[in-house]
Amino acid sequence: MKKIIFAGVIAGLVLLTNPVFSPAQDGGAVKPSGKTPAAKWSGEVIKLPTPQTTGGKPLMEALQLRQSTRGGFGPAVNLTQQQLSNLLWAANGVNRERGNMRTAPTAAGWNNIDIYVVTSDGLFIYDAVPHALNVIKKEDVRATSGLEGAGMMKQDFATTAPLSLVYVADMERPGGMRWEGEDVGATWTYANAASIAQNVSLFCASEGLACILRAMIDPAQVAKSFNLPSGHRAILTTTIGQFPQ
Ligand SMILES: Cc1cc2nc3c(=O)[nH]c(=O)nc-3n(C[C@H](O)[C@H](O)[C@H](O)COP(=O)(O)O)c2cc1C
Repeated sequence: MKKIIFAGVIAGLVLLTNPVFSPAQDGGAVKPSGKTPAAKWSGEVIKLPTPQTTGGKPLMEALQLRQSTRGGFGPAVNLTQQQLSNLLWAANGVNRERGNMRTAPTAAGWNNIDIYVVTSDGLFIYDAVPHALNVIKKEDVRATSGLEGAGMMKQDFATTAPLSLVYVADMERPGGMRWEGEDVGATWTYANAASIAQNVSLFCASEGLACILRAMIDPAQVAKSFNLPSGHRAILTTTIGQFPQ
């Protein structure tokens, strides 16, 4: 009997400390943004807590600590709901209400990068305006999502790390825009994703989380696993974990 009560207390504590994926309190009324493929989602929405937009390490200290960690993470512990909320806001959240302006700059105002959130609990897409996660599927796709790369650059740690953020670009959004005679769609889109990724790297440095930004993933496999619409492409990912204790 004592054992059952003890197990129940432990389960309760786990839920309390990792409540990221509890169902939305608002009945999932949040609408998806932009041209993202809402029809392919489950319809369930997880409202994130209000992000804490003060505090953290001073910028110069975070820059001093920024580094890549390729696996060798500590035990895979899910981020708390508040940490994930803060992380996604830092990545590309709304920091000025007027005009839906974001923490990361975006060329020509395209705002054409979606952040997909991959954890052991499932696959989600971040919707910045309501600051919520749209549930795509509650399945652990970490091992089948193409994030581990291939060949010499197989990086298995992505299949067990607690979290990967995948920056998926709408490559058609630039609409063939040219600048000084050159098609700048792809280069400026990569710059948009990199701006978000750098915000994430600095947040991780500030928060004491281990992370690595990677391009050597398998975009075709990601497209299949995430059921991406045509014209959307995974271009970078940040895998995040804990440093060994
Ligand atoms: C655009 C970009 C793509 C990267 N892709 C990978 C990758 O696929 N695999 C990897 O192990 N590191 C990747 N990195 C990380 C770099 O290898 C790393 O930043 C570099 O070795 C310097 O180390 P530091 O980040 O610790 O300063 C990438 C970095 C950038 C900016």
